[in-house]
Amino acid sequence: MPIIQSQISTTSNEFLANKEAFQKRVEELHRRRGEVKLGGPAKARELHKKRNQMMVRDRIKALCDPGSPFLELGMLVGLDLHNNELPSGGFITGVGLIHGRRCMILAHDATVKGGSYYALTAKKHVRAQMYAWKHRLPCITLVQSGGANLPEQPGIFPDDGQMGSIFYNQIMMSAEGIPQIAIVHGPSTAGGAYMPALCDEAVIVREQGYMYLGSPTLVEAATGEIIDAESLGGGEMHCKVSGVTDHLAENDSHAIAITRDIVERLGNKPDMRWQVAEAVPPRHDPAEIYGLINHDHRIPNDTHEILCRLIDDSNLQEFKPHYGDTLICGFARIMGFEIGILANKGVLFGESALKGAHFISLCCQRDIPLLFMADVSGFMVGREAEQTGIAKHGAKLISAMAAAKVPKYTVVIGGDYGAGYLAMCGRAFKPDALFNWPNARTALMGPDQAAMVLAGVRQGIYDREGNTWPEDEKEKYKQMVRDDFDAFANAYNFAANLWSDDILDPVETREVLALHLDIAGRCPAEETRFPVFRF
Ligand code: COA
Repeated sequence: MPIIQSQISTTSNEFLANKEAFQKRVEELHRRRGEVKLGGPAKARELHKKRNQMMVRDRIKALCDPGSPFLELGMLVGLDLHNNELPSGGFITGVGLIHGRRCMILAHDATVKGGSYYALTAKKHVRAQMYAWKHRLPCITLVQSGGANLPEQPGIFPDDGQMGSIFYNQIMMSAEGIPQIAIVHGPSTAGGAYMPALCDEAVIVREQGYMYLGSPTLVEAATGEIIDAESLGGGEMHCKVSGVTDHLAENDSHAIAITRDIVERLGNKPDMRWQVAEAVPPRHDPAEIYGLINHDHRIPNDTHEILCRLIDDSNLQEFKPHYGDTLICGFARIMGFEIGILANKGVLFGESALKGAHFISLCCQRDIPLLFMADVSGFMVGREAEQTGIAKHGAKLISAMAAAKVPKYTVVIGGDYGAGYLAMCGRAFKPDALFNWPNARTALMGPDQAAMVLAGVRQGIYDREGNTWPEDEKEKYKQMVRDDFDAFANAYNFAANLWSDDILDPVETREVLALHLDIAGRCPAEETRFPVFRF
C-alpha cells in the first residue's frame, strides 16, 4: 500500500515553535468566528428578543435535524469592513439537513441593519444560490429584510450578480424543479417582499411577519393613504385576502415546524452516485499540521507531510511520482470519498503542468472529484522555461482544470501567487468551494516583489525626467507597497470579501470536504468536454 511515511520529529524545536505560532492563528480564527456569530449590536439583539423573535442562528438550528452539521458558507463575510457593522454580511448561508434532505438555507439577520442588503449581502446571497443551483439543493429562505440598503445602490441594484439576480435565480431554479420555500419571520419590504412572493410555497408568522412592496410610511408619502402594517401586509391578510402567502404560523417555531413538514414531502431524495468507503483516519494526527506550517511564510511547507495528515490511512497512490515533481498528483480518500489531489511542491515547471493536465483528464474519465492544495509562487520564468514552452504547457494545465466537470475544491494551504493561484483552481475557475487555511496568503505577487517592481517603475520615471529619488523616500514608498500587499494577501481579507468561502482550521478540513463531497455526489455526473489543447 502506498502509505506516506512521515519523516519529521514532532518534538524538535522547530516543530514546537511552528505549532505554538499556528495555535495562535487558530485561536484567533475561533475567537473571530465567535464574535461574528453574535450578530448585530447588543441593542438590536435585545430589541429582537423583546419582540419574541428567535435569533437567526437559532432559527437555522431549529430548522435542521437535531444534531446534524450545518455547513456554513461565508461566515466571515464583511469582517473588518463597513466599520465591522456587517457580521456575516447580515445574511447566513449554508447547507443543512431537513428530514435527511440536504437544503440550502439562506437567512437574514434582522439585528444587522434591519436585514437590509449591502453589496456584500447580495453577493453572498447569489453565491449561495449558485451553489444550490449547481447541487440541485432546495432553497429555504428565512426572510426578515428591509430590502435594499439605500446608500449601497450601485453595488446592489443596477448590475447582473446583484439583487436582481437573486430573483432571477429563484425563478430559474424553480423552473428547473429546485424547490424554493420561504418563511416571512418579520417585516420584509420591497426586495424583502419579492423573495417570498417568488417562492413556490411561503409561510408567514402572524403579527410578526409583514410583507409589502412599500412600507406604511412610504405608502402615506406616496399616496396619502394611512394604513397600519398588519392591514397592509400582515399574515392574516396575506393568507386570507391576497393569497400571497400559503401558511399562517403562530410564531417562529411554528413556522419552522410547518417548513420542515413541507420539506418532508418534497419527493424522493437523490442517491449517492459514488461508492464511499469506510472513513479511516490518517496515520498521523491532523493537528500535527500546526507544527508543519513554518511560522516564517517564506520557508516552503513539506506537502507530503501535510497530505500524510489529511488523507485516509495516509494512503496516496501517486501518479508519475518521478516526473514533474513540483506538482504532486495522486488518488486518495477523504472520509471514504475518493478524490484526485493536485498539491504543489515548489514552482510549476512545464513538466509539472503537463502531469497535472494528464491527471485531471484521468479524474474526469473516472468521475473522481479534484482537490487542489495550493501553495505556489507561480510558473517558472526565464529563457529555458520559455524556450521549452512553459506558456503552452501551463495553458494545458489551466485548460484541463477549467474544463473539468467533476466537482472541484481548492484549499489554499500556504502562499498562492499570480498565475499559480489561477492554475490551482482560483475563484475565477469556479471551484465548488474555495477555502484558506489561516496562514494562507494570496496575491498577484509577494510584498517584496511588488515593492521592487513598483519602485523600479517609479525610479524609471525619476531617471527619465532627470530627477533624483531620495533613498529614504524610496524606502518609505516600498514599505507602503509591502504593507498594502501584506494586508491584501491575508486570509481574512479574502473571507471578508467572499473571495473564499471560509477560513478553515486545518483539523476541520477533512470533515468540511467530506460534507461538500456528500452533497456533490448526490447530483448527476456531468460530461467533460476539453477545449483545443496547444501541443
Ligand atoms: N436602507 C438603509 N438602512 C436601513 C434600511 C434600508 N432599507 N433598513 C434598515 N436600515 C437600517 C436603519 O437605518 C438602522 O441603522 P442603524 O443601526 O445604523 O441606526 C438599522 O438598519 C436598523 O433599523 P431599525 O428601523 O432600527 O430596525 P427595526 O428592526 O425596528 O426595523 C425595518 C427594521 C427593516 C422594518 C425598518 O428599518 C424599515 O422599515 N426600513 C426601511 C425599509 C424600506 O423601506 N426599504 C425599501 C428598500 S427599496
